[in-house]
Amino acid sequence: MSEASPANEGTGTAKAAGRRVPLSRGLSTKLLLLTIVFVLLAEVLIFLPWIASYRLSWLKERLNTAAAVSIVLVQGEPASLSRAAQNDVLMAIGAKAIAVRDGGVSRLLVVADMPPNVDEHIDIANTSMLEGMTGALDTLFFGGDRMLRVFGPVGESDKEFELIMPDYRLREAMLIYSRNVAFVSLLISVFTAMLVYAAIDLIMIGPIRAMTRSMLSFSEAPDEPARIIHPAARSDEIGVAERELSLMQQRLQKMLAEQKHLADLGLAVSKINHDMRNILASAQLMSDRLRQVKDPTVQSFAPKLLRALDRAVAYSEGVLSYGRAQEAPPSRRRLRLYQLVEDVHGLLDIEEGIEFVNAVESAFEVDADSDQLFRVLTNLCRNAVQAMAADTESALVRRLAVSAERQGSVSRIVVTDTGPGLPPKARENLFAAFRGSARSGGTGLGLAIAHELVRAHGGTVELVESIGGRTTFAVTIPDQPVRLDQARGSLRRPA
Ligand SMILES: Nc1ncnc2c1ncn2[C@@H]1O[C@H](COP(=O)(O)OP(=O)(O)OP(=O)(O)O)[C@@H](O)[C@H]1O
Ligand SMILES: [Mg+2]
Repeated sequence: MSEASPANEGTGTAKAAGRRVPLSRGLSTKLLLLTIVFVLLAEVLIFLPWIASYRLSWLKERLNTAAAVSIVLVQGEPASLSRAAQNDVLMAIGAKAIAVRDGGVSRLLVVADMPPNVDEHIDIANTSMLEGMTGALDTLFFGGDRMLRVFGPVGESDKEFELIMPDYRLREAMLIYSRNVAFVSLLISVFTAMLVYAAIDLIMIGPIRAMTRSMLSFSEAPDEPARIIHPAARSDEIGVAERELSLMQQRLQKMLAEQKHLADLGLAVSKINHDMRNILASAQLMSDRLRQVKDPTVQSFAPKLLRALDRAVAYSEGVLSYGRAQEAPPSRRRLRLYQLVEDVHGLLDIEEGIEFVNAVESAFEVDADSDQLFRVLTNLCRNAVQAMAADTESALVRRLAVSAERQGSVSRIVVTDTGPGLPPKARENLFAAFRGSARSGGTGLGLAIAHELVRAHGGTVELVESIGGRTTFAVTIPDQPVRLDQARGSLRRPA
């Protein structure tokens, strides 16, 4: 035990380290990244209407300037302007031509050398939000070498103005605007994410992390009271979780302490028992010699003494073997039950006057571990024989019968005797180790062991009835289930 423990500790810490969450995969990092992404997403959605309205107001501004210029020019004589002066005006506004429409009459105010081909018409006054947004995206992604015709009324004036201009300046301005927005968005999202992160970290992640730490530290040494979590005085879900965790850890610790006491006690019992068995064995040897003493008094008590010693040795051995931990899992085969029951009959020490009936059909098959089923049946039959041996009246029928029947894939073995039935103490503690014995010299292990062995087969042992003259135990053992995946595999394989 003590040699193995350092190794165990080693693997324990390794396991605990494996369960620790690295920062990059922790809840906080996920939360931080998610917040940044979500805020950016929201910014993108807001960006579309922003850029659309930026584009329209940029164009409107140009149109306003053009309007102001054209009003000044209308006052004078536009034709008198030299080509160079016209180009200067156009260059200043960034346009190729400006026109004004007044009461159905359109006047071209300034024209560059070549009248340009227009690629896109933008009606400032009648552009819907959707058109504005698609137009803005269009300019951003595909614009730069197009010619725009922008028109619409300006201010209170009833004249309509028109401007023909290339879009590269517009696109440049929009790109700068987008870059600024992107930069500000990033700032906002990082700032928001940090705020959200700090708040959630304080309210949730911190306590959850503390809880995780406490669980890990508790699982490393569940018997240390200091490792139980101290729940915070909060009324939200985390408070409830912390309180429940604390209660659970306390309960677990109590249970562990109890189990440790029981295990210590068990160890002490088995040590005492071991020594006792050796002492009894030597007493048995010495008492054997008493048989040779011819004294009639000695002759009368020697057999009783020997029987008592035999029982005591058997008792010690029973306790020892029960304490010797787990039964091996059953290794199951198909067995002829008739033969097995015959073997049980051969082993039992049946006294004169007790009848043993093997009513199992000779072809009956059961799917079980031969050794374990043998022990189960021996325990049941021995109990019956012992119970009937206590009956001394000669007229009593004393018969033990074993029969079996099959119900689908389940074998049901029935052991019946005509003895006195189970005493109340045995009935109340049926299948409970050490508690059920109502027989002097009985360990109270036979039924408990039978129960454990049958359970390992996936079956049950039950007391069907127990009245004077008819006591029936039934052992039910289902056949091993067919493993579907294996069966399918073998079917698919070509023969
Ligand atoms: N067929 C039976 N008829 C009457 N009493 C029974 C029968 N089977 C079991 N009992 C009662 O149930 C008790 C528990 O049986 P169990 O086999 O568990 O222990 P045990 O026979 O006392 O001791 P062990 O089998 O460990 O030597 C018995 O002491 C006995 O009183
Ligand atoms: Mg018994």
